[in-house]
Amino acid sequence: MKLSQIAGALGADVSGLDLSNLGDAGFAELQSALDTHLVLRLRGQSLDRFAMAALGERFGHPFLHPLVDNGYDDCKAVLELLREPQDKAMFGGESWHADISWLKPAGYTSILHALEIPPVGGDTAFASTVRAFETLSPKLQDVLQRLEANHSYYWYERREEPAYCATHPVVRKHPVTGAEGLYVTRMFTNRFVGMSEAESAGLLGYLFEHQEKAEFTCRFSWAVGDVLIWDNRFTLHYPINDFSGHRRRMIRTSSMEQA
Ligand code: SIN
Repeated sequence: MKLSQIAGALGADVSGLDLSNLGDAGFAELQSALDTHLVLRLRGQSLDRFAMAALGERFGHPFLHPLVDNGYDDCKAVLELLREPQDKAMFGGESWHADISWLKPAGYTSILHALEIPPVGGDTAFASTVRAFETLSPKLQDVLQRLEANHSYYWYERREEPAYCATHPVVRKHPVTGAEGLYVTRMFTNRFVGMSEAESAGLLGYLFEHQEKAEFTCRFSWAVGDVLIWDNRFTLHYPINDFSGHRRRMIRTSSMEQA
């Protein structure tokens, strides 16, 4: 396996691994690269939904979406993310987020495989929440380390549903590398625990803007056959909706962190 970093903050291209035929040693190398680089791209892969689900299960229990019905009846762990030429909206929604922070345990990895892509556009951008945390002042780091935040799937409708709501520490520590990262997202985090939305808005707004700085990001242009694997605990991502009139079809599987 060979690794090549794609930006200063996070992200690496991995070559020399066939994800459809990955032994234990290959998986251990992949896992270690993910721990370090947080988002990995592997080109020229060919995985059907069953192979995607099997790869996801090596990282943890599969996420079965309780609300979205674009899964496969014969393979519930895999969602099809399809944007037709006439569609306006995009799954994952044109906003920085981490997948499945609204459950506890939360989402760990997501694996996304490109099946059809537009001629140009439809990139996915990532941000390192580790870089974001380490560039805050020690005093603010100290305050944030003592806070928890509420994450709600229905935040965009300004409604909290207990089944799709979870609280998490605002700062997470990577269990292998020890790196610390911010864990609040523009899409799902609505308030700090013990505070109202109004009281939380100022500091949350500052953190959202801070962690989305270009210096903390990398960006992938897709080719058919590409697979991206990322760690939702220490990254944010943003699917860029700039390919109106074209089709984009991906399959995604996500794995949950351990309880
Ligand atoms: C997602 O938000 O999980 C999908 C990302 C993408 O479609 O690029």
